[in-house]
Amino acid sequence: MTPKPLVTLRTGRELRARVREWRASNLSVGLVPTMGALHEGHLALVRTALSTCDRVIVSLFVNPTQFGAGEDFAAYPRNEARDAALIAGEGAHVLFAPGVDEMFAEGEVTEVHVPGLDAVLEGAHRPGHFTGVATVVAKLLNLAQADHAFFGKKDYQQLQIIIRMVDDLCIPTEIHGVETVREKDGLALSSRNAYLTEQERAIAPALHATLMQMAEEFRAGGDGGRLELNARTRLTAAGFASVDYVAVVDAETLASLHVYDAMRPARILAAAKLGRARLIDNISVSSMENLPINPD
Ligand code: PAJ
Repeated sequence: MTPKPLVTLRTGRELRARVREWRASNLSVGLVPTMGALHEGHLALVRTALSTCDRVIVSLFVNPTQFGAGEDFAAYPRNEARDAALIAGEGAHVLFAPGVDEMFAEGEVTEVHVPGLDAVLEGAHRPGHFTGVATVVAKLLNLAQADHAFFGKKDYQQLQIIIRMVDDLCIPTEIHGVETVREKDGLALSSRNAYLTEQERAIAPALHATLMQMAEEFRAGGDGGRLELNARTRLTAAGFASVDYVAVVDAETLASLHVYDAMRPARILAAAKLGRARLIDNISVSSMENLPINPD
């Protein structure tokens, strides 16, 4: 049987109508929220969704409210036709690609805050970013009424915030975290890697390498704070222009950790600038969770 072609929907009304039909036929529904410029990392989410759900919606919305002043909202890569072809190739069922006016009505004021989790690390460097993310993800989850939604561990803090929000607001969608897809040299796939020059691209894998070394040293008894300082030095020496943060934290609360405790899951997160790009990455401190996943 040839798969049905991908359907592109632009309004919440159409999306809800489609989901109602699926539900009436007892089909389970998965949602993969994205901002487009799709790569193998996004496609891994789509594949996981397709293996879990009968019907899969991929949303494509470059959400203006999660970009700060001076960030790359205008420059963010956009190519809907290419993205649609990629997800059609995977067998996704619906591309939900609303305009800004469809997602944000005039006069609306309600926002979703996830205090604590949204103030540290990425949140401390991008004020308002996670409010923009949480609010738009809450809207997408409410529009799609999906049974399952899929997010990458690449944006680990975002994933933790969404898990917290869904739990706190009783949103009836199960959230799945999908492992980070990396290039062979360890660089996490990101739409923003397109900003790197050839020379910067050669420096970029030092971010993942530094995190891996930190994890090993932390497991071996190194002090979290000391390791953070060493990592900053290593990243600048490798050619990064500046390091926004590099931190060893509790995997759930994101509170700083100094001492390794095998019973307490820990995570190492970092953000650093390289040319026009600001790269973020994170890994688990447990060596078992860092097995390589790359496109082939
Ligand atoms: P975007 O950056 O397009 O990412 C969409 C999803 O793909 C996120 O869940 C992200 O974590 C995941 N992803 C990105 N790179 C990945 C990689 N290398 N491996 C695995 N997953 C990866 O994140 C957003 O968009 C937005 O904030 C959004 C959630 C759509 C809200 O606007």
